Amino acid sequence: MSSYITTPIYYVNDRPHIGHCFTTLIGDCMARYERLIGGDPSDVFFLTGTDEHADKVVTSAAAHKMTPIQWADHNAEQFKKAFAFIHASHDDFIRTTEERHKAHVLAYIRKLKAHGDVYLGDYTGWWDPSQEEYLTESVASSSPHGPFTSPVTGKPLEKRTEKNYFFRLSAYQDRLKAHIEANPTFILPVSRRNEVLGRLRDGLSDIPISRAVTSDPTTQWGILMPDDPSHRIYVWIDALFNYLTVVDTPDRRKFWPAKVHTMAKDILWFHAVIWPCLLMALNEPLPGTVYVHSYWVRDGKKMSKSLGNFVDLAVLGAYAERYSVDAVRWYLLTQGPTGNTDADFSYAKFVEVYNTDLANSFGNCASRVGNMIEKYFGGVVPEPVPTPEGEMWTGHDWPGGSICATATENVLRAVGYVDVSEALSAAIAIIRSVDLYINETAPFKLAKQVEANPALKDRLGLILYNCAEAIRVASVLLSPAMPTKMAEFWALWGCAPKLGTKLVDLAAFGGEHRLQPGSEIKKGEPLFMRADPKLDEPKGPTAA
Ligand code: MSP
Repeated sequence: MSSYITTPIYYVNDRPHIGHCFTTLIGDCMARYERLIGGDPSDVFFLTGTDEHADKVVTSAAAHKMTPIQWADHNAEQFKKAFAFIHASHDDFIRTTEERHKAHVLAYIRKLKAHGDVYLGDYTGWWDPSQEEYLTESVASSSPHGPFTSPVTGKPLEKRTEKNYFFRLSAYQDRLKAHIEANPTFILPVSRRNEVLGRLRDGLSDIPISRAVTSDPTTQWGILMPDDPSHRIYVWIDALFNYLTVVDTPDRRKFWPAKVHTMAKDILWFHAVIWPCLLMALNEPLPGTVYVHSYWVRDGKKMSKSLGNFVDLAVLGAYAERYSVDAVRWYLLTQGPTGNTDADFSYAKFVEVYNTDLANSFGNCASRVGNMIEKYFGGVVPEPVPTPEGEMWTGHDWPGGSICATATENVLRAVGYVDVSEALSAAIAIIRSVDLYINETAPFKLAKQVEANPALKDRLGLILYNCAEAIRVASVLLSPAMPTKMAEFWALWGCAPKLGTKLVDLAAFGGEHRLQPGSEIKKGEPLFMRADPKLDEPKGPTAA
């Protein structure tokens, strides 16, 4: 079964920041889980990219004395660098200015026109220049920043009348509603689904999908309407199609429909309403899940240019330099706004989470067990011999098998709901069980008795084997969040998962892919050095 994961395509009017990195990380973590689950990485396709035909790209390019495409080239490069920095594993990066995208968009619009789903008409509405979208009367009048201001930025809305091509959205409202009702995981989390169902009660009007070309340079940037060069395709319609254009080739068609579209709450409506209706009009199957997260904020405030409080790439880079890229990934993925509430980016919290989950938990547990195997078994993984009391190595005195099986089930369930933070907390729970087991069985005390009673050596080996094998399972389940650190760990312990193996097999405690008795565990640098909370916050060179 192939699976296709997407992120939004980001505007190239400005540089990337934590918000863009966050969504791409969620997509990345999901894609890595999917690759592990199916065992065949070529069955998974993960897409990110940039949305380049927006008005604000034109104005921002002019402010930088560049043409729109020069500015788009410059910023698309920044996004590529940002995603390379966070170790995103996308299979493709789409830019909407690429020919491969444009050609397909024209074909889709032609098809919609031919079926009567796109027609020419008049439109009057509330235009939000900061978001480049029209708002309905009810949304415009009830903005939290005051009537007829942008609900997102608070800037004034403009009343506009235009001759436009329209998409017959209204024709699909009943089918869409039925689809959302019949598919509880079509929009996640469930609160966002309820939000969309609530708004759908107002009914859907047809929406403009083009703008007349005028002397205003912003109207001259974008894809021309097919067979009518006096109009350009509205940037949002052009952008949404990216998910399909990239896989609309003979070798990639198998990936459609997308399994998960990831994004934040700001663009829920486009993805949960307009996009599926466009797809229905094109006779395409609908995506599995539209997953919507909330916002990263700083000190409770929205991050914005005017406040200068962006957590930008320079800041994330400084954190990564001190704590590692995987530690940044871990913090963002486990503490981010994955659910319904916004999350505050905080240095104190970062240090606390880093120490609790990484330095003191996985890092410490792996080095403790590794050190004991080194000390008592010369660094060679002991044979888990059943003890004289009849305890089998797979369990009895410690249910390692069921602890790992439950964790794996929980991870898989959470991944099914696109709940990455829940999946990671299920995975790290294994380490807590190992810590408890070590405290209860005290292998370091047992080791002292081995000289007097050599029969105890098997029991010591059994305990350490159980611990080590459970840590291996945890490392597999944690690897989508921390691919580099887990690969370092596998290199030391000689337990890198065999390519092409499915997650359930890799994660089977004591199964075919278990830690091999007799194999060597190498000593290395600690995976995660403890963080000193007294140090000042790492700051990037351009951080505000
Ligand atoms: N170009 C459109 C999307 C088109 S998709 C067919 C767009 N671009 S954007 O550059 O504004 O990116 C918006 C997305 O960036 C959000 O949906 C979210 O994925 C991410 N984020 C931007 N700021 C964010 C936060 N402060 N916090 C979390 N994510 C945020 O909209």
